[in-house]
Parts: sequence; C-alpha cells; structure tokens
Amino acid sequence: MIQFRNIVKKYRTKTVIEEFTLDIEAGQLIVFIGPSGCGKTTLLKMVNKLIEPTSGKILVNGTDITEMNPIELRRNIGYVIQNTGLFPHMTIQENLELIPKLKGENPEAIEKKTTDLLNMVGLNPEEYLHRYPKELSGGQQQRVGVARAFSTDSDIILMDEPFSALDPVTRSTLQDELYQMQKELNKTIIFVTHDMDEAIKIADKICILKDGHILQYDTPENILKNPANPFVEDFIGKRRVWNNPELLKAEDIMIHQPVKITAKRTVLQAIEIMKERKVDSLIVTDRNQQLLGIVTLKGIQLLNRNMVLEEIMEKNVLSVSQDTNLIAVLAAMNEHKIGYLPVVNSANQLIGLITRSSILSALSSQLIDLEVAF
Ligand SMILES: Nc1ncnc2c1ncn2[C@@H]1O[C@H](COP(=O)(O)OP(=O)(O)OP(=O)(O)O)[C@@H](O)[C@H]1O
Ligand SMILES: [Mg+2]
Repeated sequence: MIQFRNIVKKYRTKTVIEEFTLDIEAGQLIVFIGPSGCGKTTLLKMVNKLIEPTSGKILVNGTDITEMNPIELRRNIGYVIQNTGLFPHMTIQENLELIPKLKGENPEAIEKKTTDLLNMVGLNPEEYLHRYPKELSGGQQQRVGVARAFSTDSDIILMDEPFSALDPVTRSTLQDELYQMQKELNKTIIFVTHDMDEAIKIADKICILKDGHILQYDTPENILKNPANPFVEDFIGKRRVWNNPELLKAEDIMIHQPVKITAKRTVLQAIEIMKERKVDSLIVTDRNQQLLGIVTLKGIQLLNRNMVLEEIMEKNVLSVSQDTNLIAVLAAMNEHKIGYLPVVNSANQLIGLITRSSILSALSSQLIDLEVAF
C-alpha cells in the first residue's frame, strides 16, 4: 500500500504539487494521467526518494519512507523511467540482473528469471541477452525497461510512460501482458501515461492530475460515466463511452421503475393498468419483488378478462443482472428476439427493465456528442 499524505513540492517559489493526498491499495494498478508538467514524474520519483517533498509524507506499507534507507528502498521498488534509463555500458542481461545480483539472489534463479522476463516482453533471449542497449530500437529498449522493473521481485513498480515509444500493435500487446502479469503477480503499480485509451485499458483506478492536484480519482468506468468537471470531460473526449460500449451496464440503460403487477390480478386489471400507465407490458412480481413473469398487451387482450395472470403470464422470462454490459444485453435481445429485458439484482429482485426505447434514450446523449464531434 502506498499513501501520499498532504504532499507539497515547491521549486523556489513555484508550487508544482499542491496538498496531494492519495491512497493506493496493494495489488492495484493505478494510472496517473494529466497534461505535460502537471507533476506525474515528480510524484513517482517521490515514492522511491529520488525527489524529496517540501512537506507532507509518503507511507509504503505503513512505514514513513523518510525512515527508510533510500538505496534499500529503490532496490525494492521496480522503476521504469521515462526514456528507459538502461545502463548503456551493460548488456541487456547485465541490466536485467544487476539488482537481483545486488540482492544476493540465487544465480540459477536469476538466469531463469532473466530468460522468462525477456520472453514475457516478446524479446528472444538468445538474440538479445548479449546486446547493448544502443543495439536495440527504442521500442525494444522500452521492453527491456519493463522487464527490468519486474526483475526486482518487488511488490511495487513505478512506470513512467513505459510504452510511449512503441508502435500501436506492440503497445497493445504489452498493455495486455502488463495487465495479465499484474493480476497474476499481484503487484502494486503506478503507471504514468498521456494516453487515455491506455489508461482505460489497464487501470484499476485512474488519477487525473492538473497543475499538481487531483481532479478525479476513480475507476475508468466511473470516470467515463461521471466526469468530475468539464476539464476531465474534455480530457477523456466526448465519444469515449460510445467507443467503449461495454462500459455501459444494464443499470445505465434500464427504466428504473418499470410498471409492475402481482400474479393474483386479472387480465382486465392488467389491461386497465397498461392503459393508465401507457405501457404495453407489465412485469409480474411477488411482494418481495421477485421476478415471476411478464404479460404483454398483445398476449392478453384477446383473453377472457377474468383470468388470473399467474395462469396465463409468460413465465420463462429471460433476465439480466445489473452489471451486464450493453453488448451482452443487445446480444441477448437479438438472440431471443425479445424487446424487453428485466434487470434483477443478486437476490433476483426486479430493479429495472430494458426496452428498445430505454436503450435508445441512453445512447442518444452519446449520439448527440458524436454529431457535435464531427
Ligand atoms: N528541478 C526542477 N526545478 C524546477 N522545476 C522543476 C524541476 N523539476 C520539475 N520541475 C517542474 O515541475 C513540474 C512538474 O514536472 P514533472 O516532470 O513532474 O511533470 P510531468 O507531469 O511528469 O510532465 P511530462 O508529462 O511532460 O513528463 C513542471 O512544471 C516542471 O517544470
Ligand atoms: Mg514526466
């Protein structure tokens, strides 16, 4: 766990970090994003004491880092610096093995780890182990930088724009790899980037910074749905949710208070309620809001008006949970050729109803943004 407490950094009279307080839980991948000069690198370098705050403190796993030996601290925190920072006079192997050797790890284990790490970042060990950094392309050097950060076996890894020099395809592959590795190895990672798509793809939480303070710190999903202010909105871009439809969940596109009826009511009563509420279907629930079935005007209008709904309602009703995404919702509606999809919570209680028109109205604001953007 990393805790920033009231961090202030001043260079002479200029304040570059203002009262920065943030908790980063263990095992999370946090992305710092913001315009150039907003203080991302400064904050990162404070965690491994390459920069001292003017005031405030940083706790790593509960210990104030001012009480820790900086060399020891740095050996235990993986760091990918902006522009790779490989040692030019050392081979790739020497670069990767430097810290594990300093820490006195078992030589055989080190060798295996080096090979594994190179494979992991997509560099053939036989080909690259004995080369020097200048004999690698910029993108290849960045991959070695990432591998080196993982070579320390540290719980914490700081990554300052580690993929910035990579082509989009390699970058995307490495983002997937990083995400996978982080989930498997349970590292705590602070990752700096300028690229919102990258942030959305890998982050557990995104911290949006401007002029040394936090504008918003939340999950990618919440930031996209509820940008804290116009700057964040601008920063994430208007079309973002439209570009990531899987971020729209059933509860975002459903009607929140669908018209309900209990199973003991009659066809006549159901038709009356539909007329009054101007709907053409009713969800049948029990008193505990459990979903029992559905009746539609088309299905019941020709029936004997005295029939009780529990005898005639459609009982095999497909429903979805509130966190089902838009893509899955549309697929279910298409596959089963239905225009209605009740939404239930984990206790199978009805909490909403998705209809074609509720989907349209949820998307319409996005569409309007889209028109403005073009
Ligand atoms: N040694 C220094 N002396 C004076 N000002 C500095 C010093 N180091 C950094 N700054 C200033 O602190 C601010 C934050 O710098 P920092 O490197 O943290 O930005 P950043 O968010 O990482 O930017 P980028 O995205 O361009 O890497 C900048 O305005 C920078 O000019
Ligand atoms: Mg920087």
